[in-house]
This record gives sequence, structure tokens and C-alpha cells, in this order.
Amino acid sequence: MNIQSILEKKKKGLKLNKDEIFYFVEGYLKDEVKDYQASALLMAICIRGLDFEETSHLTEAMIKSGDTVDLEEVEGEKVDKHSTGGVGDTTTLVVGPLLASCGLAFTKLSGRGLGHTGGTLDKLESIAGFRIDLSREEFIRNINDIKIAIMGQTATIAPADKKIYALRDVTATVDDKSLIASSIMSKKLAIGSDILLLDVKVGSGSFMKTVEEAEALGATMVKLGYEFGRKTYVLLSNMDEPLGYAVGNSLEVIEAIDTLRGQGPADLKELSMAICSKILLLSGISSDRKEAEKLLQEKIDSGEALEKFKEMVSAQGGDPSYIDDVSKFELSAIKREVLSTGAGYIKEIKALQIGEIAKELGAGRATKEDSVDLGAGILLNKKIDDPVEEGELLATLYTQRESILESAVKDLQSAFVIGDKNQQKYELLLGEVGREDV
Ligand code: URA
Ligand code: CA
Repeated sequence: MNIQSILEKKKKGLKLNKDEIFYFVEGYLKDEVKDYQASALLMAICIRGLDFEETSHLTEAMIKSGDTVDLEEVEGEKVDKHSTGGVGDTTTLVVGPLLASCGLAFTKLSGRGLGHTGGTLDKLESIAGFRIDLSREEFIRNINDIKIAIMGQTATIAPADKKIYALRDVTATVDDKSLIASSIMSKKLAIGSDILLLDVKVGSGSFMKTVEEAEALGATMVKLGYEFGRKTYVLLSNMDEPLGYAVGNSLEVIEAIDTLRGQGPADLKELSMAICSKILLLSGISSDRKEAEKLLQEKIDSGEALEKFKEMVSAQGGDPSYIDDVSKFELSAIKREVLSTGAGYIKEIKALQIGEIAKELGAGRATKEDSVDLGAGILLNKKIDDPVEEGELLATLYTQRESILESAVKDLQSAFVIGDKNQQKYELLLGEVGREDV
């Protein structure tokens, strides 16, 4: 076998067999297949496509390129949740403690933020002392003791995906559905959870611009999930505005704490409830949506969900007093209010642009090596469908970067699209794809 013949085949739109796909993945990881050859193949795949069988082989090859985390020693049903990358999306920090308080084992390996999307690990590190570098033993012990642990995704999980993804990023080959599905699923399926809930973002701030595209991606991921023995379910959620009001690390942790306390933004609560209900149904803990939501509400009202968050923070070395007193989270020193220059109704809050501004303010990274200002970010004061008057507060910025402040203010003003009252109310939940009847 050689790489030229594989390239030749895909160029002509022919189907690659399992050996050929493994040859490419293994060869590229070992540098035997060169960057220029891998780039050519990825581009041919983007143009010609992969069918489901090829996508499944690619996923398997990437899983097998590294370590897998078997969770045999974890008692009870293990659940994992993943989002395809939103702006201001702090759902994991709400969903994890809520599900753990319902008795499910929440076993999550998370990443850091890159580009305009934030990462759960950075957010958690805004709590003093919080450690994300748990050993495998600690991870499993914590899950068995308190039903929840969130740790850093190690470099040894699906290393081939890591290398291929970096190449896709610079060769305009990211946005192919088969490549995205196999990339996400290779990392998720390397961890031995029983139930996998995927939140596929749709809209201006995400890879999938339309519901149809997101459904197609979701269908492939669900099929892959079952093929590898996981109950998999996809929710589609709208990213035509950031989720909640907070965008930035400390700000988002505070927002998650508020939500666990029953006082968070309506959209963050709606999405968290939708994700948790599906998982409770898939696990058999609840038998219908109403019952699931009732149980979740009880866990919020009784304080058990918030207590779970606190237990996780303590177990991972963090200072639990931050949860009782959120004024302990340090926000960046420069605070600036951004006012509206127009009047009417909010029609859109460009999520991608908001994410980019938050990054400029210090909340995100341009390259992997950058450090993050955990106190930087944006606190929105308006959401889609809200009325707004000229001179009214749109958002508050937090940063340490004086020099970019004026341009950030202008960019932020232009991220808010203001016009006539919307004909239709903004919908957060746009669809779902699954196999089980839940
Ligand atoms: N996230 C991933 O991990 N991979 C992709 O290809 C796209 C989003
Ligand atoms: Ca938010």
C-alpha cells in the first residue's frame, strides 16, 4: 500500500477501505505520511466526501492511535456531555453537578479554550487552588466518592486527531461533517462512558450554520455512538447569541453558580434542563420529561446541586468558599460600560464577534501558548428580543488591556444588531437527533 494510491482513489471519489484509512492515520502520526500528502487527502475528502463506513473506520483509527480510559471501576451509569463549541457556554458546570446530585456518574475530560470558544478547564481554574490535572486513580476515586470529576484531556487521547485537526485548521478542511464527526467522536469514544449527550451548536457563532447541516452532523455522530456501544443523543441549540449573559472565565463560573442556585439566566437554565432531562430518560432514572424536570428542580431548590459543585471543588483542591461568596472571584481591573447608539429591539448578538472580543480583552487564547486573564470578559445586559433605547447599557467589559479598550467598545456596539421587533421569538432549542424513544 502507498499513500499515492490512496490519494488517487479519493481524488476519483472512490471508497477507501479500512486498511487504507488506518494506513493514512497511523502513517501520518508517525510522520511517514507527510503534511502535504495528508493535506491533499483531507482536501479530497472535503470535496468527495466519506460515507458512513469510511467515517467509522477513520473514527476507530483515531481512537486506536492513543490511550483509552476504561471506566470499569466506576460504579453505576456513567454519563458524558459535549458541546461543539459555543460562546459563553458554561452548561457543563451546571449539568455535571445536577446529574451527579441525581446519582449519575459524571465523567468528563475537558479541553482548554482556543479561538473564540472558552474551555471548561480555564473556567474552573478561576477558583483558587482548583486542579484539573488529576491522576487516573484520583479521577476514578472522586467519581466513586462524589459522582463527579472534571479533568484535563490528556495528550495521549486520540493523538492522531490532534495532529490531523491542527492540519485541517490551516488547510481550510475543518468544516466537513464526516471529519468533524470522527474528530469529536474519537475523543469521546476513547472514554468509557455509557451515555453521551452532544450539544450541537447552530448559527453564526458555530461550525454548523443551518439546522439541516447540524442534523446531518448529529445523525452521523449518533450512528457512530451506537456503533461503538454508547447511548448517544444530540440536541441542537441556537448560537445566534451567546448563552446566558456572561462571556469569560470567572464571569461564567459565577453564572453557573447562580444557575445552580436557581437564579441564573433563563436560556442557560433551559439548555441545562433539556440536556439533563434527556440523560435522565436515557438512563431510566426518569420515565418522562415532566418527571425528569421535577427531579432536577428539586435538586436545585434543595441546594443539593450546588452542594455537589462545592464537593467537586473541594475534592479537586479548590477553595469552596468561592461558591458561597462569589465576590471572591477576581474580575479584571478595568471595567467599562458599553451603551447603545441606536433604539429598537435586539435582533441578533453576533456570537462569533462577541467571542473574538472576549478573546481580545484577555479571556481567550490566540495560540495554545497564550495565557488567559481569568477575570476578563463581557457581561451582557441585553438579549435577543429585548427592547433597547439609545444610551442604554448593552454590556460591561472587563479587561487589563487599556490599549484595546476603545476598539473593543466599538466592536461590541456593532455586535448588537438592533432593529424592528422580531416577528418570531428567539428559539434556543432547534431540534434533536437520537435513536431511543425519549
Ligand atoms: N471540534 C473538534 O474536536 N473537532 C472538529 O473537527 C470540530 C470541532
Ligand atoms: Ca454565559
